[in-house]
This record gives sequence, C-alpha cells and structure tokens, in this order.
Amino acid sequence: INIEQFREDLIAWFRAEQRDLPWRADQDPYKIWVSEIMLQQTRVDTVIPYYHRFLELFPTIDALAEADEDKVLKAWEGLGYYSRARNLQSAVREVRDKYNGVVPDSPKEISKLKGVGPYTAGAILSIAYGIPEPAVDGNVMRVLSRILLIREDIAKPASRKIFEEAVRRLISHESPSDFNQALMELGALICTPTSPSCLLCPVREHCIAFHEGVQAQLPVKSKK
Ligand code: ADE
Repeated sequence: INIEQFREDLIAWFRAEQRDLPWRADQDPYKIWVSEIMLQQTRVDTVIPYYHRFLELFPTIDALAEADEDKVLKAWEGLGYYSRARNLQSAVREVRDKYNGVVPDSPKEISKLKGVGPYTAGAILSIAYGIPEPAVDGNVMRVLSRILLIREDIAKPASRKIFEEAVRRLISHESPSDFNQALMELGALICTPTSPSCLLCPVREHCIAFHEGVQAQLPVKSKK
C-alpha cells in the first residue's frame, strides 16, 4: 500500500462526498462527545433528532452537569442503553469539577472519564482536537480488514489493538479528523457489511481484498 496516496484518495473522497451530518458543523468537544455516545449503539438516522433536542436542552457541559438526571434520561428516552446517558452526565460533572470544564486533550486523561472507551476517546481527540489517535469501532475494523487483508477475528476484544496499530501507521497527521471520519464514512456508504460497492470505492486501488476478490469474506467474525 502506498500510504500517502491512500490517505490523499480517502480524504479527497470524504471531503467531496461526506454526508451533511449535524455533528460535523463544529468541533466543540462536548458536542462531538454527545454525538459519539449516541452513535455507539444507535443508527445515524435515529440519532439526528435526539442530538438536536439534547443540545437544545443541554447546550454546554455546564448545562448538562447542572441538569436533573431525570430530565437527562427523559431526553434519552427511545435511544435505549440508558447507562450511556448516566455515564455521560457523570463524566461531564467530572470534567466540570476536575478539568475546569475543559474536555481533556490527552488519551490518558480522557480515557479516565466514565463511558469513554478507546473508540470514543480517539473520536473526540481526533475530531475535536485534531490529535492523530485511532478511533476504531466495528465499521472501521471491517473497512481495514479488507483494505489491509487483516484476518483477525473482529469479535475478539484483543483484535481492536491490531486495528489501532494499523490506523497509527496510516493516519494523516495533517487531517486526523477527516481521516478517521473518512474511514467511518467509507464503512457507512461504500464498504458495507454485505455487498460492498467496490466499483464506487475511492480506495479500491489500495484494497488488497478487492484485488484478490475476497472482500465478501471479510471481516472474519466469529459468533459470540
Ligand atoms: N458513527 C460513529 N461516529 C460517526 C460520525 N462521526 N459520523 C458518522 N457516523 C458515525
């Protein structure tokens, strides 16, 4: 793989073709955080109206920190996985109390926050702060398993680190936000779980699975 060319092709495609999603309108780390927590177990189309309403009710870290928990849970109603909302509010209170209301910009500190796992940490650091950290979720693992022909079982928790190392080698230090979001967007629009649209793919030249015709067999995913 020609890493420079891959980055350039991927990012150019993202800049031209990305969906106009509300959390792409600004780089406020709080808003990015809210969006990434909502998107963890919920589809984009479902999240959009919740995202708008949540930020109308709780536009800032201080607003969410000061809110009554029942009001926060009410705003989450229908999204499910309510511990996400409880953890978010508790973490936001910690940011207010321990970090002067500023979301930490270091992997070590941000990862201490309740509900902020490696994926969320990497998403906030790269998208809000432009820090070149991996943000690897299931979609990104699928995309990279094909491009790099990685046959690690993505159902195994230990595999995430393999993919994070791959992102560390590939990521653009000029545009970490666009790079990570481009991988997510490619997974959402082109490199889908079944019948990926390889003929429309901006990086098919760089994709080992496409060259070998094995994209449909990837990722390797055992049943849990
Ligand atoms: N899924 C997870 N994070 C996302 C993002 N920032 N944009 C679109 N889909 C996503």
